[in-house]
Amino acid sequence: MIQICGGPAYFNASRGAPQMVGRHAPFRITPETRLVWLGLYRDVLMDLEKEGITEKSLTSWWNYINVFSNWMVNTPK
Ligand code: HEM
Repeated sequence: MIQICGGPAYFNASRGAPQMVGRHAPFRITPETRLVWLGLYRDVLMDLEKEGITEKSLTSWWNYINVFSNWMVNTPK
């Protein structure tokens, strides 16, 4: 996530190329559990709003993870 936002390449340095779909392949991720994941993330973003992160930035990030999380779904139900 730090990399996606243009920060240092921490993930690549410690874990190699991201390959997120492959890394998640051993786990069942359904459309429902994607929503659980997003819900937990939403709680974090609400806290960041209290810390002064702008609504524009939060909305932009939310739109990104909403799309990204769909790519991680690997099980229909
Ligand atoms: C829709 C659901 C999910 C999404 C969108 C998602 C997304 C992500 C993302 C963005 C990362 C990288 C974090 C970073 O920047 O370091 C990550 C890492 C990881 N996730 Fe998930 N995740 C999901 C569900 C799960 C589930 C259900 C499991 C296991 C039960 C899981 C296991 C892992 C593991 C083991 C890593 C570390 C991979 C590595 O560093 O090589 N994820 N996930």
